[in-house]
Amino acid sequence: MTIGTTAHSFSTPGQGAKHLALVRWARAISVRQVRIGCGLVMFCYIFSHFFNHALGNISFSVMEWWRLNIHVAWWRIPVINDVLYTAAAIHLSLGLWALYQRRHFRYTAAELTQLILGLSIPLWLCAHFGAVRVSGWMYGIPPLPYQNALYGYWALRPHMIAVQFILLTIAWTHGCIGLYFWLRLKPLFARAWPIFFAVAVLMPPLAMLGAHHAAGEVLALAKDPDWRKANVRPIPPDQRAIIDRYSELYFPIGYLGLIGMVFAARGLRTWRERWRGTFTITYPARQVRIPKGLSILEGSLRYKIPHASVCGGRARCSTCRVKVVSDRSALPPTSPREKFVLNRVGAASDPSIRLACQLRPRSDISVIPMLPPYVGAEFVRARGRIHVGEERHLVSMFVVMRGSTTLSETKLPFDIVFLINRFVEAVCRGISDAGGQPNNFVGDGVLALFGLDTDIATASRQALRAAALVASNVAHLNHQFATEVAEPIQYGIGINGGETIIGDVGFRDRTLFTALGDSVNVAARLQDLTKSLDCKVVVADAVCKAAGLADDALVRMNVEIRGQTNALSVRIAKDPTLLTSWLEPMGAAEHEQDTQMEEV
Ligand code: FES
Repeated sequence: MTIGTTAHSFSTPGQGAKHLALVRWARAISVRQVRIGCGLVMFCYIFSHFFNHALGNISFSVMEWWRLNIHVAWWRIPVINDVLYTAAAIHLSLGLWALYQRRHFRYTAAELTQLILGLSIPLWLCAHFGAVRVSGWMYGIPPLPYQNALYGYWALRPHMIAVQFILLTIAWTHGCIGLYFWLRLKPLFARAWPIFFAVAVLMPPLAMLGAHHAAGEVLALAKDPDWRKANVRPIPPDQRAIIDRYSELYFPIGYLGLIGMVFAARGLRTWRERWRGTFTITYPARQVRIPKGLSILEGSLRYKIPHASVCGGRARCSTCRVKVVSDRSALPPTSPREKFVLNRVGAASDPSIRLACQLRPRSDISVIPMLPPYVGAEFVRARGRIHVGEERHLVSMFVVMRGSTTLSETKLPFDIVFLINRFVEAVCRGISDAGGQPNNFVGDGVLALFGLDTDIATASRQALRAAALVASNVAHLNHQFATEVAEPIQYGIGINGGETIIGDVGFRDRTLFTALGDSVNVAARLQDLTKSLDCKVVVADAVCKAAGLADDALVRMNVEIRGQTNALSVRIAKDPTLLTSWLEPMGAAEHEQDTQMEEV
């Protein structure tokens, strides 16, 4: 079955869509994610193994029970065992591949620690692995029970105690740093990290103490020659010598040779890239030349140009995204993974936005980084979406407090800010309760948008309902502050609908999602008119019609709007709370209609 097959391949269109979605999802999996997946399998193994050690703090028999009935019972299931070894092989191979791929060595302390610890694990592990697994493969020696390993290390080869404890610490730390890099971008991390941190810190000492405690029990039992004969089976010396030669000599030499080959391949690549030539990256304030084959992010790092990259160039965070402002025709296409990440932040529809860590241009390019260089994991966890700009039919509403300048003559600054905040709160509550979005605050005024997620008829009804709710909230506020303020708080509301441009506007971290355009300006002008018309609300007639308000509802008139050639038909309300009485019959009718539909 291939992608794109339709009628004869899938019994329903839904199945086809599901299959397509699955294929897209699978294609968006990056090498890095495969490495994480394999790392997770191994982390589960070491967690179970170290937890098993920690049970030695209770007793050797509890430790052995867990090993036989849980740890071994699960991990020695043939398919699970195969998955574990495959995951280990893939994780190691992809780790070496990542070392080859990385074009710079500007590691953070955590990254460097993880890399060095990860690369050293096979060297610390080889002696233990040789004794417990290779011996079985070479001589058919069955997997050794705990007492064998504990007696062997604590009584016969004490230097292996240090080797095992170092290995345990290194493997655990490497796994925890990997988990941290993976989880820190997830929304749950902020809440769950104290638990993760406690487990991460406690596990190694508990595991070491448990093993040591259990070893003490085993040594005591081993004083009995009969017990020792029955329970401890040392590997014969000649076999041991051969296993040690393979695991402690040949393997480390081969492994270090492999790492050396990775560095040799890096050198070869650098040499080839010099021959391939360079290209220029133009940033807003700087120009640099880098070898072809490097990504934009690698160019930024090479020349110490501040550039956000929370995930370290692993195509996970999207914070490195740039806007390409030069010709895009020669750029390599976006990979499925890049598309997936851009889609997650709402930027996939704009072809000029690319991930700097994935984009490897082959010719000169001009880019503008879209996020400030210092954004952190919190930004990614909050799923910061970008709005690159689009035109939508929205209803805009301006609510402005009147007389705040008069207040400043009679009140202390603290009181004024307090009052304005209460007013803004009352307004925003009304807007949100009606289904709108308080969008922008200018002094004592609020701009609200309706229709970001709904059709225009619903948005218009929401805006009118919001005006009524704002009026009743402010009336309640006036009641609360009757003794504090000489005059009740006054306000004006202007409502207009039309094509509106929405998008993120601002500079660096001061970016705001907001609305622009003639329609928004007219809403502001309508709010101004509430003073001269001596009313609370001026709403464009088109909004009332879209909301389904009867023609005789509210006073209608034509008004001149500054900057507009034609007069605008508007309706005015002196008491906005009455708007609900015009909307309620419609709400009831809608409800009745909905009920009938459900019954049908
Ligand atoms: S640095 Fe994270 S996606 Fe590019």
